[in-house]
Amino acid sequence: MKENRKSFKIKMEMDRRQFIQQSVLGMVAVSFDWKYLSKKKNDYLDYDSESLQIQWGDMYVMESAPGPITLINGRPYLYFGGTGYFCLQGNPALVNAAIEAVKKYGIHPATSRSGFGNNPVLLDVEKKLADYFGTEDAFYFVSGYLGPLILLQALRDKYDVIVMDETAHFAVKDGASSTRKRIITFKHRDPDDLNRVLKKELKAGERPVLATDGIFPTFGAIPPIPDYLEVINSFNGIIVLDDAHSVGVLGANGKGTCEYYGLKGDNLYFSGTLSKAFGGEGGFIVGSKSFIEDAKAKTGIYSGATPMGNATAAAAAKGIEIVKNHPEMRKRLWKNAKIVKDGIRDLGFEVSDNPVPIIAWSLISADEMLRVHRNLMKNGIVLPYSKYIGAPAGGVLRASIFSEHTEDQLKELLSQLKKQLS
Ligand SMILES: Cc1ncc(COP(=O)(O)O)c(C=O)c1O
Repeated sequence: MKENRKSFKIKMEMDRRQFIQQSVLGMVAVSFDWKYLSKKKNDYLDYDSESLQIQWGDMYVMESAPGPITLINGRPYLYFGGTGYFCLQGNPALVNAAIEAVKKYGIHPATSRSGFGNNPVLLDVEKKLADYFGTEDAFYFVSGYLGPLILLQALRDKYDVIVMDETAHFAVKDGASSTRKRIITFKHRDPDDLNRVLKKELKAGERPVLATDGIFPTFGAIPPIPDYLEVINSFNGIIVLDDAHSVGVLGANGKGTCEYYGLKGDNLYFSGTLSKAFGGEGGFIVGSKSFIEDAKAKTGIYSGATPMGNATAAAAAKGIEIVKNHPEMRKRLWKNAKIVKDGIRDLGFEVSDNPVPIIAWSLISADEMLRVHRNLMKNGIVLPYSKYIGAPAGGVLRASIFSEHTEDQLKELLSQLKKQLS
């Protein structure tokens, strides 16, 4: 018995060592960019915004679907957080679609899609995505976070070096690291610096892929893609956008950043998510049949992972249908964003001049922003304080605007803010 316990202990210790060794080797194997570890706070590994609740001792528990009014810790709040731009996450049509799909097909197919894991729910999402974006085909997978990774892996024969915006989202950075290609960065939203860096860093014959967010999540800024395209074309390169916040929101038909700029081109690629504007869950890419087939073949996820669960997939399909058939929601979203942006400007702050429903600005100190955030909460309004990627060291106050906020609710936010700031 004693002997058994001893050998169990030895085995545990060996497993632990092996685990550590494998983790370290694993990190090296995926060319983990060690320099990120030594960077200052608020950089790659700084998840401050996510741990804010722990840091400041507030634990927020959302007890309803997100919407203009959201139940948090038992209290209904006028809510300006998150990314549910059309409030579809709690829409009864999506909820019912989810219930029906689970009743019919179970939770998920319990096998990968290269085997028997295709079912009518998943295929319907892809059909609806292709229809929405006007492409031949689409590939739907479990998370928008994987979008840049899948695109960068699928396109790996078309480029040699990744040139990335310095404040790109974690999804872009992790996606880039997974390719084991050389990664260089350029200054945030700066086409001149992009040009400078490419001239300096590219060796003869090397082709770049530019990787960037289509909308940056903290300030809601849109990168200057037409200027990037000019630079990238001169280096025979391609562009990959993480359009997580753009799809459904930007462009006359909600097709994202490329549509916003009126750009088309066979060297422009984007990935999106169904978790934000569309109210479901999961990521996707779209394109020609051959491109999508190639992407499925070149990335492990099609054959090596359980696909998205049927509940959120069916909800996503319904969300795509609703966003496609109700362009007035997008117009309302833009109008609401403009009302709040104008109001924040009237209070003396500079905010971006675009239709993105994300509005962020800083006050003199983190303490002052937390004071405003907390006082608004006392008065029944959630205006998050955030130190998410791209935020200055002190953080920002950041409002997400929804198509379903009423004008009165937007005015309430502005008038409460005015009281706090004067
Ligand atoms: C820019 C960006 N890309 C990707 C994601 C991840 O998308 P998903 O939540 O669908 O995994 C997010 C946030 O959620 C994001 O802000």
